[in-house]
Parts: sequence; structure tokens; C-alpha cells
Amino acid sequence: MYPKEIIEKLIKAQKAVVLTGAGISAESGISTFRGTGGQWDKVDPMKLATPEAFAKDPKYVWEWYEARRRQLREAKPNMGHDVIAGMEEFFPKFTLITQNVDRLHQKAGSRNPIELHGSIWMARCAGIPSCGEWEDRHELVNLPPQCPHCGALVRPGVVWFGEGLPGEAWAEAEKAALECDVFFVIGTSALVHPAASLPETAIQKGKLVIEINPEETPLSGLVTLSVRSHAGPALELLREKLLANDSA
Ligand code: OAD
Repeated sequence: MYPKEIIEKLIKAQKAVVLTGAGISAESGISTFRGTGGQWDKVDPMKLATPEAFAKDPKYVWEWYEARRRQLREAKPNMGHDVIAGMEEFFPKFTLITQNVDRLHQKAGSRNPIELHGSIWMARCAGIPSCGEWEDRHELVNLPPQCPHCGALVRPGVVWFGEGLPGEAWAEAEKAALECDVFFVIGTSALVHPAASLPETAIQKGKLVIEINPEETPLSGLVTLSVRSHAGPALELLREKLLANDSA
């Protein structure tokens, strides 16, 4: 699965980046967005994951996210999350970038992942214009609450289609992609931009780029190594190889 020369390069790498998508949480029982049985197979994302959808039917949107929060509250990180958390100790400089809003990376021990699409455990004022109020929101409530600051409705603290990414998070992610020695892209369909442009940047800059995904993606033919496997077993094997070589 991992050629010897790739392992040798990884052992020497100083700066590593990992970009994850919904596939990293699939082995925790959280369904991905695309593909058969995926979340966007059951609901139209345009009726759910846009500011317009929330303006039109805030109750429907809030209830969907509340159901996800209920499911996520019980979810546990899997082997893939665990190995990625351990990478922080292995590489001298390590940056984790995730498109996921579930915070399972943090539950596994990852310290400061860059959350490109926000977090389902945050909420913010949806007023137009917004008063800018953000809050941690862990308790479950069935209706969108009111902003304690200005009285407008509160919305999930995630990035929706048509919205910009958090500026600071994006700047940090782009910098990491430009400066890294190795870029792992794990469990993402690589269809949603701008997140998908990060591995594209790494490829263009001639970095070592390793994809882990059971399915082919638009990046598969462009990366240095495409590992066609589920994240958990592929990352567990990678950890074994790196630790064996490191101590050899
Ligand atoms: P997708 O649902 O588009 O893609 C999930 C990817 O995970 C697919 O390529 C699967 O082949 C792969 N996969 C499935 N099981 C896996 C496993 N066990 N191990 C590794 N890979 C596996 O999810 P994302 O690429 O994360 O945005 O989607 C990007 C964004 O689109 C999301 O953040 C979300 C969505 O709409 C918003 O809601 C704004």
C-alpha cells in the first residue's frame, strides 16, 4: 500500500498537512454527504444548507441540524481520527485542516484543527445584518433560539453554500498547503471549493501528496500516491510503517 520510498520521505518530512472530509467520520457511523445513502441523497442541500433556506424556513433547517447534533453527541472518534491525532507528535510541524463540523478530531485529541466549515457545536446570530454574536451551543433545543444580544434568530455556526470561509482559518490553511513537505487528503470527494483547492495547490507546487479514499476522486490521478482504502485501516498501517522505520 505504501512504497518504501514514500515512507522514507515521510520519515524525513518536517511539515505535514492533513485535510479531511466527511469520509474520516464514516467509520464512526456518520454518513457522508455525497454518494448513495449520503445526506445530500436524502435532502436537497439548497433547501437546507444556504442562508436563503434558513431565512425561508428556520425551523426546518434548525431541526435538521439539531437531529445531527443528537447523533453526533453519541458518536465516538475512530482509528482514523486517532492516528491523525498522533501525527501531531510525529511530524515537527503539523497542521490539521478539516471540512467537518462534527469536532470528532478534537474528541480524538487533535489540538487545533482548522475548521474550514465551522462547527455544529457553535451558533451565531442570523440577524441581517448580524450583530456578530457567537456562542458555544451544546444543549439541544428544538426551535432556533433568539440571539441574547439583539433578539434575532440564532443559526448553526457552520458555513453554508454561497458563504465565504472564515478568513483567518482560510489564510492559515493556504499557508500550510504552500509550505508543507507532505499533504494528506483523506476522506473528501474534493468537489467543494475552496477547500478542494488546497490539495490542488500542493500538487501544483510539486509536494508529496497522498490521498486516502475508497473511491476515485478528481485528485486521484494527480496525487503522488492514491491509497484506495477506508481511512481507518490505511492510517493504522501507515502509523505502523512510520513507527517501525523511525526506530529502525
Ligand atoms: P463528501 O460526502 O462529498 O465525500 C466523502 C468522501 O469520503 C467520498 O469521496 C467517499 O468516497 C469518502 N469515504 C467514504 N467512506 C470513507 C472512509 N471510510 N474512509 C475514507 N474515505 C471515505 O464529503 P466532503 O468531501 O467532506 O459542506 O464534502 C465537502 C463539503 O460538502 C462538506 O463539508 C459539506 C458538503 O456539502 C457544507 O455543508 C458546506
